[in-house]
Amino acid sequence: MTRLILDKKAFFHDLDYEPHPGQLEVHSSRHPRRIVACGVRWGKTLCAAMEGLAAAMAPRDRSIGWVAAPTYDLADRVFREIQLLVQRHLAHRIITMRDSERKIVLRNMAGGISEIRGKSADNPVSLLGEGLDWLIVDEASRLKPGIWQSHLSQRLIDKKGWALLISTPKGKGYFHELFKRGQGKDPAYKSWNYPSWTNPILDRELIERERARVPERVFLQEYGAEFIEGSGAVFRNVRECAIGRLSEPQSNVIYAGGLDLAKTEDYTVLVIMDSRDRRIVHVDRFHRLDWAIQVARVQSATARFNNARICVDSTGSGEPVYESLRAAGVNAAPYQFTQRSKADLINNLALLFEEKDLIIPEPRLWPEGIDELEAFEYSVTDAGNVRTGAPFGMHDDCVIGLALAAWAAKKNRVVQCQFADVGSTVESPMRKSLGLRF
Ligand SMILES: Nc1ncnc2c1ncn2[C@@H]1O[C@H](COP(=O)(O)OP(=O)(O)OP(=O)(O)O)[C@@H](O)[C@H]1O
Ligand SMILES: [Mg+2]
Repeated sequence: MTRLILDKKAFFHDLDYEPHPGQLEVHSSRHPRRIVACGVRWGKTLCAAMEGLAAAMAPRDRSIGWVAAPTYDLADRVFREIQLLVQRHLAHRIITMRDSERKIVLRNMAGGISEIRGKSADNPVSLLGEGLDWLIVDEASRLKPGIWQSHLSQRLIDKKGWALLISTPKGKGYFHELFKRGQGKDPAYKSWNYPSWTNPILDRELIERERARVPERVFLQEYGAEFIEGSGAVFRNVRECAIGRLSEPQSNVIYAGGLDLAKTEDYTVLVIMDSRDRRIVHVDRFHRLDWAIQVARVQSATARFNNARICVDSTGSGEPVYESLRAAGVNAAPYQFTQRSKADLINNLALLFEEKDLIIPEPRLWPEGIDELEAFEYSVTDAGNVRTGAPFGMHDDCVIGLALAAWAAKKNRVVQCQFADVGSTVESPMRKSLGLRF
C-alpha cells in the first residue's frame, strides 16, 4: 500500500502538483467510495483530475474511467483539466484524444491501454453500458435524484471499480447520505468535509470579502461547506402557500398574469392571479407549439379572465411574440430581463412567499410549479457573484411565469397608470429585507 501511495506522490511531483494537506488525505485513501464535500475553490476539481489521471496511468492491461457531472459543461471542468495535464506532461502517451468525443486514450505505464471519457448525467441513456474501473463525479450533490443509484454506481459493480464524488454540499439529499456513510458508518466509504479556507493557496481576505457580500446561509453552504437544509432555497414557505384551487373568472375582479416564453427546450408558462390577494386562478404550461397557436392560447385565456393584464418576458426572441400578443389584443406589458431586473422580480416573489402573502395551487394541482419553486436556488458563480436560478437540468419557467404575474399584480395594486413601466429597476426595499446583494 505504501509503495502505491509513494508512487502516486512521485507521479504528482512530476506533474508539478503538490497537494495541500486536505487533498493529500483524499489521494492517500484507498476506500472504494470517497466523498469530498468541501467549499468552493477548495481544490476539488484539481484533486479529482489528478486522481483520475493517476488511475489512467496505473499499470494495467486495460482500464476505463469516467468523469461525470450533472451537465457536459460541468463534466468538462475535470475532463479539460485532465486533457491539459496530458498535453503538457504526457503527450508521448496519447493514443487518441478527440475533443468532440470527450475521450482520451492513453498508453499507461505498463504499456496497456487506458481510456478516459467525459459524461453528462443529464443524458442517462449515455450512462448505460460499460463496466468501469473508476468514476469521478463532479458537482455530485447537484445530480438529479436517482442518477447515482440507478445509473452511475451500477457501472462499478463488474470490475469492483472505485468512485470519487466531489461537490459543495447541498441540502440533505443522497449526497449527504453518502457523506454520512463515509463518517465511520461503512468501511467502504470515506468522506471529508472542509471549508474553502483550508485551501492554503486561497486568499483569506478574499473569502472574508465574500462573507460580507453574500447571504449568510449561502456563505455557510458554499464556503463553509455545511450541509444546511434549504440553505440555498430562494423561496420559503412554498408548501404553506400551496393551499389554493384553480377557479373560473368572476366579474369585477382585476386579474394579473405572467407569461414566460419557451426559449429552446423549455416550456411556455402562463400564470393568472386575482390581483387583490395574489391567489392563482389559472396556470397553463405548453411547449413545442407553433408561436401563432401559443399567441391564440394566451389571448383566449387572458380574454376569459376579464382581459387580464400580463407581464411578458420580452427579452431577445420574446420581443416578436410580445408584439404578436399586442397585435392580437392581449393586454400585455414587456419585461426586459437584465441581471438587475431579474433580481428585482425574484426578490418581489421571494418577499411574498416570506410573508405568505400569495396563494398558489395545491401541489397535486401544480406539481411542476411546486417542484420548481422549491428547487430554485442561490448559487455562487465562477466570478464569485450570487445568482438565482434552477439547479442544473431543471426548468424555471413556472417560477418566472409566477414572478411576472406577481409583478403585474403589484403594479395593478400600487400604480395602475404606470403599468407600461414594468421594466423599471428602482431600488427594491425587499432586497434589503432579505439581505440579498446582487
Ligand atoms: N494543490 C494545489 N496547488 C496549486 N493550486 C491549486 C491546488 N489545489 C487547487 N489549486 C488551484 O485553486 C483553484 C481552485 O481549485 P479547483 O478548481 O480545483 O477548486 P474547486 O474546489 O473545484 O472549486 P469550485 O468549487 O469552484 O469548483 C484553481 O485555480 C486550482 O488550480
Ligand atoms: Mg470544481
